[in-house]
Amino acid sequence: MNIEFVDEISSTNDVLLERAFSGEATSECALVAFCQTKGKGRKGREFYSPSETGLYLSILLFPKIPIEEVLKLTPLMAVAAARALEEYSKEQIDIKWVNDLYKNGKKIGGILTECSPEIIKGIPKYIVIGIGINLFPPEGGFPKEIKDRAGALYDKNAAAIGDIKTLKKNIAASMIETFEGYYLDFPNKDYLEEYRDRLFIIGKEVSISDGRRGTVLGIDENFGLKIGFSNGEVDVLSAGEVSLSL
Ligand code: BTN
Repeated sequence: MNIEFVDEISSTNDVLLERAFSGEATSECALVAFCQTKGKGRKGREFYSPSETGLYLSILLFPKIPIEEVLKLTPLMAVAAARALEEYSKEQIDIKWVNDLYKNGKKIGGILTECSPEIIKGIPKYIVIGIGINLFPPEGGFPKEIKDRAGALYDKNAAAIGDIKTLKKNIAASMIETFEGYYLDFPNKDYLEEYRDRLFIIGKEVSISDGRRGTVLGIDENFGLKIGFSNGEVDVLSAGEVSLSL
């Protein structure tokens, strides 16, 4: 897959979505930025994206699969990213269902998957999977809105590392290569076991965005999260419907 590297961009997700929408991009490609001026998170949130902290990349795909299947590509990106980050840091990288990356209990990355506005018979024309990783802690600390939850892959700040562009390029290339390897084999879910092994929320009590609280029992074959409730009921949550907080 062709990988384009840029210093600064509005949002790698937005740019690839626009290119696919306008017909400028017609095949799979990746866009990697060292800095975003309008980084987007889930639920319309902003994603903190300065050059001295992170790596921001998106992949444009034309998988011609229904939305339910598209939801399984986000965990695939989480596994590919976790592996690349481990390779370049020797730190253990965990996953919080469905698409957040954690190190030592702090969020170091998130994934935002978006579809074309046009969906024909449940099949989007194209999708964009974007991931943002905090590689380094910012000089003055993370902004106050995220400072309690946010962490970084490395403990040292960027200035102490040296050639961070080469490091970012290598991490991005490794992530994209692993992703592509599994994607070519999709819908084979060989990455499910690794995803399951990296989930650090199993056995933990969590709050669900619909107001309920329950204990995480595990995930099923479709990456649905199995939750047990105090009344003995068990429910399987779909990634498209709910989110969790610890
Ligand atoms: C989240 O944790 O809420 C998801 C964050 C996703 C951020 C990435 S950075 C690359 C891509 N471009 C964006 O504007 N967002 C995603």
